[in-house]
Amino acid sequence: MEPVVSVRGLRYRYPDGTLALDGVDFDLEPGEPVAVLGGNGSGKTTFLLHLNGLLRGEGEIAICGLPVAKRNLETIRRKNGFVFQDADDQLFLPSVLEDVAYGLVNAGQDGPSATRAAEEVLRRLGMEKHLHKAPYHLSGGEKRRAALAGVLVLRPEILVLDEPTTSLDPPAQRELASLLCTLPQAKIIATHDPWFARAVTKRAVFFEKGRIVSSGPVDRVILENRWDPELAG
Ligand SMILES: Nc1ncnc2c1ncn2[C@@H]1O[C@H](COP(=O)(O)OP(=O)(O)OP(=O)(O)O)[C@@H](O)[C@H]1O
Ligand SMILES: [Mg+2]
Repeated sequence: MEPVVSVRGLRYRYPDGTLALDGVDFDLEPGEPVAVLGGNGSGKTTFLLHLNGLLRGEGEIAICGLPVAKRNLETIRRKNGFVFQDADDQLFLPSVLEDVAYGLVNAGQDGPSATRAAEEVLRRLGMEKHLHKAPYHLSGGEKRRAALAGVLVLRPEILVLDEPTTSLDPPAQRELASLLCTLPQAKIIATHDPWFARAVTKRAVFFEKGRIVSSGPVDRVILENRWDPELAG
């Protein structure tokens, strides 16, 4: 089967000269969940930002067979649902419901059916109490759920989540893990939480200085890189 994500020789230098990605090769099968692990500043977010063309480095990236290039960006951003590390980057309309429906309306769906679909996804994420609230009045964890709803409503083939457990309380982290396990999409999840990585994925890649230095079963990658606080020492 054709990989849904294929990356070859990806290199990226920020304008200030920081080499953030230094030759990344990566493949993802349809429906496969993978954890992206690695220390602060190792290149995880920079890598994720390349997958829907928000940053453009050297090398080749294809999403569902389509090269990440300007002409394909609209299709790619629909197939590849990206949830930012900071939900404030994602929410901008006056109410949560409008915000989540926006992507559908923007893609040509009529208002009432977009609103119904948005409401259904928000309910699934336990957000029914907050449909008419302003996104900037939500708590951190609620914002993350609203941002995730905005992506899920578009039914992407790939979910890209950057540190999805940040500011979620432990029950909400468990709920998010179970929810993700029920979703059929391929998933790329950058996380610092070994428990979450194990709960949601089987495979992990480990970033160090802009390269993937190990890749394989999530337990092995965590162990090899001494990434579990309870086992470190
Ligand atoms: N806008 C920027 N300009 C210059 N350098 C940047 C920029 N954004 C990130 N970097 C640098 O690129 C490198 C990779 O950063 P990145 O944000 O991808 O790391 P990360 O693995 O996501 O880290 P974290 O776990 O802290 O989220 C770091 O050295 C960082 O300082
Ligand atoms: Mg990051």
